[in-house]
Amino acid sequence: MILMDNRHAHITDSFRSLRIGIYGAGSMAEAIIRGLTEKRLIAPDRIAVVNRSNTERLEELQRRYGVAADNSPQGKVQLLQAADIVLIAVKPKDAAGALAELKTCLRPGALLLSVVAGLSIATMQRIAGPVPVVRTMPNTSSSIGLGATGVCWSDETTVDQQEAALHLLQAVGYATVVAEHDLNMITGLSGSGPAYVYYLMEAMIAAGIDGGLSAEQARELTVQTVRGAAEMVRLTGEEPGELRRKVTSPGGTTAAAIETLEQYQFQQALRSAIHRAEARAQEMGEQIGRVTF
Ligand SMILES: NC(=O)c1ccc[n+]([C@@H]2O[C@H](COP(=O)([O-])OP(=O)(O)OC[C@H]3O[C@@H](n4cnc5c(N)ncnc54)[C@H](OP(=O)(O)O)[C@@H]3O)[C@@H](O)[C@H]2O)c1
Repeated sequence: MILMDNRHAHITDSFRSLRIGIYGAGSMAEAIIRGLTEKRLIAPDRIAVVNRSNTERLEELQRRYGVAADNSPQGKVQLLQAADIVLIAVKPKDAAGALAELKTCLRPGALLLSVVAGLSIATMQRIAGPVPVVRTMPNTSSSIGLGATGVCWSDETTVDQQEAALHLLQAVGYATVVAEHDLNMITGLSGSGPAYVYYLMEAMIAAGIDGGLSAEQARELTVQTVRGAAEMVRLTGEEPGELRRKVTSPGGTTAAAIETLEQYQFQQALRSAIHRAEARAQEMGEQIGRVTF
C-alpha cells in the first residue's frame, strides 16, 4: 500500500514538471485542458495550445484556463519544441498534414499523444518519424470528466511516458490500456457510444410526450432513468442482465415492454450498429494511412 502511494506520488510530481503542447484547440483539446486544470494536475502555464488559424479560439482558452498560446509561426514552433508531451487533437482529415508539420517541431524523446480517431501508430510514425507514440480513443463525455478512453502505445515509449499518458487521460474519466487492434472496437462501443444512448433517450422522451407528459417532464424522467440505471450497474457491481431480470416480473409491464423490444430485435440491432461503427473506424484508419508525404 505504502509502495503504491509512493509510486502515485512520484507520478503526480513528475507529471507536474512536464510541459504539454496541444496541437489543435477544438472541443477534445478543451476537455483535456479543463480536466487537467480543474483537478490541478499541472499548472496552467505548463500547457501550451496552438491552432491552424483560429486565434480567437486560442485567446478564449487562454482567458478561460490561463494556458499559454501563440499562433505566430515562430511562437508555435517554440511552444511545441518545449513540450515533453505533444497532444495531437485535430480532425482525422487534417491529421496527416499536422503530423508532417509536427515532425520538424518535436524535440528528441518527446511523446506524441493522439486522440485522432482511426490514426494508427504506424501511420503516425511513418509521417512524424520513429517517435514514442500513445494512441487513444476517448469520447465526448470527457468534456464533463466522465469520458471512457482506450489507450495503447508504441514500443518506443518509456514507462514514465506511459504513466504520464494514463494520468492525463484519467483527468477526463476512465482510461484502460488495450492492444492497438482493439481500438476500432472501442471506437464502435464507447467512442460512438454516447450517440446510441442519446438515440435511445430521444425515443423515450418522444414516447413520454406521445403519452401526454409535458416535454420537460418526459426529458427529466428520461435523464434521471438513464443516469440511475448506469449508476445502479456501477455501484452494485451487478450485471445489467441480472438487474433487468430483477425488475421484470412475469406478466408485468417491464416484461411486456421487453417482449416488444425483442420482436424488433433490439439487442441484435444495437450489436450490429456497434460492429458497423467498428468497421467504419477501420475504413477511416486505412484512408488516413493511404495519404502520402
Ligand atoms: N470531440 C470528441 O468528443 C472526440 C471524441 C473522440 C475522439 N475525438 C478526436 O479528437 C480530434 C479532435 O476533435 P475535435 O472535436 O476536438 O475537433 P475540432 O473541435 O474540430 O477541433 C480541431 C482543431 O484542430 C485545429 N487544426 C486543424 N488542423 C490543424 C493544423 N494543421 N495545425 C494546428 N491545428 C489544426 C483546428 O484549428 P482551426 O480552427 O484554426 O482550423 C481546430 O481548433 C478528432 O480527430 C476526433 O477524432 C474527438
